[in-house]
Amino acid sequence: MALSTKNILGTKELTQSDILQILDTADSFKEISTRAIKKVPALRGKTIINLFFEPSTRTRTSFEIAGKRLSADVINISGSTSSTVKGENLIDTARNLEAMSPDILVVRHHCSGAAELLSQFVNSPIINAGDGAHEHPSQALLDLLTIRSHKGDLKGLKVAIVGDVSHSRVARSNIRAMQTMGMKVRVVGPPPLIPVEIERLGVEVSHNLAEAIKDVDVIMVLRIQLERQNQGLLSSLREYSNYFCLTSETLAQAQDDVLIIHPGPVNRGIEIALDVMEGPRSLILDQVTNGVAIRMALFYLLLGENNANPN
Ligand code: CP
Repeated sequence: MALSTKNILGTKELTQSDILQILDTADSFKEISTRAIKKVPALRGKTIINLFFEPSTRTRTSFEIAGKRLSADVINISGSTSSTVKGENLIDTARNLEAMSPDILVVRHHCSGAAELLSQFVNSPIINAGDGAHEHPSQALLDLLTIRSHKGDLKGLKVAIVGDVSHSRVARSNIRAMQTMGMKVRVVGPPPLIPVEIERLGVEVSHNLAEAIKDVDVIMVLRIQLERQNQGLLSSLREYSNYFCLTSETLAQAQDDVLIIHPGPVNRGIEIALDVMEGPRSLILDQVTNGVAIRMALFYLLLGENNANPN
């Protein structure tokens, strides 16, 4: 069955059936990454272009690995080495790349709406790999895959999303995807880092970390986005950490089987303590592993080969 959308611009557009199909397909692909020869011919002859205008370790590498594990040809382009530095605009860049007949474009850009804009000017499917503070759908999908693999079912689970919600495309994509899957979301942080009227999205709001994590199944700790903190929203990082860093003392308030996730990169000791980050409840590296399977699933489903045998 095909997805209901040609592009993956955000989780807002994904139905529950889309998300389940992506997660199930990703589950079926996980095993490929454990083989001695980590490659199947499913997308042989397809061309994927990764166009990244912001730094990335996890997302860019996993999109590249995902394409290569499915035997696609993968081309990586950085904003800093593209002709945008000579003044070419984003739309012209994408249209010129499309003139070389790629099958899919993966785009990360610092401007909210960049991926959606490109989708209006090119025919190839677009995957949004993060646009400003707007959306990061593949991150939300890998988060759901990670949670589902430990909890079995997503429906009814409670999640606390902690930290810099205002600047977080990960939070926005997760709130929508989690609600679509029947999960309950609480956002936690100091008032300047929680968007005004976020309750209208159907989430609870808390400014007390210890209280907010008591009854949840999952704690998602967000990165304090140091590069986006130029508006003086925080008086100091030390003050933030005093109240909102997830430490083992705070974690003692939570349920014994609570899961801890973080999209990375981590600011150690600012939003999460080292022993918690590396402790038994942390699934941070599982998330990274699942990122490859999710991105394989997205390529496979968007390129219309989902009825073929990937092996
Ligand atoms: N989670 C995430 O987007 O990490 P990168 O910025 O390293 O891709």
